[in-house]
Amino acid sequence: MSLDAHMPIGLFDSGIGGLTVLHALRRRLPQEDLIYLGDTARLPYGTKGRETIIRYSQRATQKLVDSGIKMLVIACNTATSAALPTLREQFAPLPVMGVVEPGAAAAVAASRNKRIVITATEATIAGGAYQEAIRRRCPDATVIGRACTLFVSLAEEGWTDGPIAEGVAARYLRDVFADGPEKPDTLLLGCTHFPLFTNALRHVVGPDVHIVDSAATTAQAVETELQRLGLLGEPGRRGVSRFLVTDNIARFMRSGGYFLGEELHRNDVTLVDL
Ligand code: DGL
Repeated sequence: MSLDAHMPIGLFDSGIGGLTVLHALRRRLPQEDLIYLGDTARLPYGTKGRETIIRYSQRATQKLVDSGIKMLVIACNTATSAALPTLREQFAPLPVMGVVEPGAAAAVAASRNKRIVITATEATIAGGAYQEAIRRRCPDATVIGRACTLFVSLAEEGWTDGPIAEGVAARYLRDVFADGPEKPDTLLLGCTHFPLFTNALRHVVGPDVHIVDSAATTAQAVETELQRLGLLGEPGRRGVSRFLVTDNIARFMRSGGYFLGEELHRNDVTLVDL
């Protein structure tokens, strides 16, 4: 496998959520070409078992590798938690980056009282990768994991603000953020969909809690790694993004707009099989 600075960065996610990571990459590295695979045929990954998530992630990565990429970014928390070591080993020497380490670093940097709550899918919480990554950086941290499964469907429906989103957020998190000396000071959004709920979550956790996600810190980590490997794209050029999806282009384009914060163009999206 030969890696070259002119090649695109490949990203994959279980569907549309990873577009929040793509968005952060575009802002940080506008010169890079990006190729994004959304495995919409198999979404959600977050309620699947570990072996299944690894198998899906291997297929998605193979597709991107076949199209020629210089780095893989696993733009999905669930897939990063389950499959990162397997993908690194199987696709070496391709550099493979995930969202968990940058997210954990952001949470530890933000927290003062070292009481951190992670919200994520069931599979991410059960896998324990975030808990482990936070404790490695801060052994005396108290880490509380909460699976917030319903947020995934609500985000894809575009219901991210207002009484329904706030009610769901309260149901999942009100008890853990009750006022008192034990109140955590940091909420880590360990799922691609959850940054869309920042306003609703703010109502529940209060004004003093840091709400952090991994998209911006992942983009920063990608830049550092590309620089280290001598694979950064030529500065000043304007990169392009292409999208591959495994099912339902119309839905990907509709819901994807919420995540990307801009419209997707039909000509940039291709249906593929894995
Ligand atoms: N992309 C997934 C994540 O970040 C959320 C959606 C899913 O469950 O597949 O964990």
